[in-house]
Amino acid sequence: MEWIKKFLDKQKENDLLRALNTASHRQGGKIHINGKEYFDFSSNDYLGLSSHPKIIAAARHATEKYGNSASASRLLSGNLEINHVLEAKVAALKGKESALIFNSGYQANSGIFKSLFSKEDAIFSDRHNHASIIDGILLSGAQLFRFHHNDMGHLKMLLKKYRHKYRRALVVTETIFSMDGDRPPLSEIVELKNKFNCQLIVDEAHATGIFGKNGAGVAEDEGLTHEIDIIMGTFGKALGSFGAYVAASKTITDYLINTCRSFIYSTALPPAIIAANIASLELLKEEPHRRKKLCEKSRLFHKYLESISLKTKGNSQIIPLIVGESKKAVALSQQLEAAGFFVLPIRPPTVPQGQARLRFSLTFDHSEEIIEKLIKEVLQSCLI
Ligand SMILES: Cc1ncc(COP(=O)(O)O)c(C=O)c1O
Repeated sequence: MEWIKKFLDKQKENDLLRALNTASHRQGGKIHINGKEYFDFSSNDYLGLSSHPKIIAAARHATEKYGNSASASRLLSGNLEINHVLEAKVAALKGKESALIFNSGYQANSGIFKSLFSKEDAIFSDRHNHASIIDGILLSGAQLFRFHHNDMGHLKMLLKKYRHKYRRALVVTETIFSMDGDRPPLSEIVELKNKFNCQLIVDEAHATGIFGKNGAGVAEDEGLTHEIDIIMGTFGKALGSFGAYVAASKTITDYLINTCRSFIYSTALPPAIIAANIASLELLKEEPHRRKKLCEKSRLFHKYLESISLKTKGNSQIIPLIVGESKKAVALSQQLEAAGFFVLPIRPPTVPQGQARLRFSLTFDHSEEIIEKLIKEVLQSCLI
């Protein structure tokens, strides 16, 4: 076990040692850690739905009706009727024929690539795609080509050079990058995937609930839903719940039911979660003001950053402030914490070396006054 100790010491030396922060309370844009309350800029509860009374009531009712556990995987006896209600709602929102629920985004991504692709195939993946996508691709055994982040010239070059050597090919991208907050040039990706006869999978984990007329995500926002073969996303971020889904043709979801190991070999989600997810999708329709307000606040956040001469990427609710070295990101996070703001440092390997950053995660619950104070008073004084 000496090597483990050495590894941990080295991580510490490089400001890369992770430890668990324990929260005693989290709601309404605030978090309590070690008895202290902070404004919480570290949560993916973008629409503030996780404590919505309708979601809580739905979860409570489902637990009373069905019990706490699904008690089996879906292919055995864990397939409660409410799974199908949820899947029909996801398919309708996403504009696809069918949908399939997964227990988490990690499980969806770690399973679907292996089901659909193997060593005769090639997968072209944005360099900044989430770890669950990379792990899924590696499990599939397909040849992985990573194109520079959002660089269509590089993707085209790789497709030109390698596509013809493989049987099937796939392009995969997030639609709002989790650590960068920016979008890919989706219509150019669609053009390339058609030109080079590839499939396209998009991960809408950080876009679902926020973008598009109905909150379906960036694919809806850009009118490209029909060009995308598989849209995956999660319930654990803007939808304020837990779990994930794949939306696609019925042929694809039927195939996944038969072959996707991360779907097959796992106990189905608890009834409370399924019911909460249904309620959450209903809230997208009933309370569209949440995504509208969030987008207004994101624009304000970016504007305030510009006003103190800070440049950042994208224009979404995820706002990275790239500072370079891990040490600097950790120190800045600690300064903000001392001023009452909880903002996490993101370090390698989650982001590339030399691109450590603070990741500000905006939610519906942050008031304009708090955003202004954070940027114009606290952040500005920390950076002087
Ligand atoms: C882009 C992206 N995809 C997938 C996941 C995994 O989702 P989950 O948290 O439901 O496992 C995440 C979550 O961190 C993510 O950011």
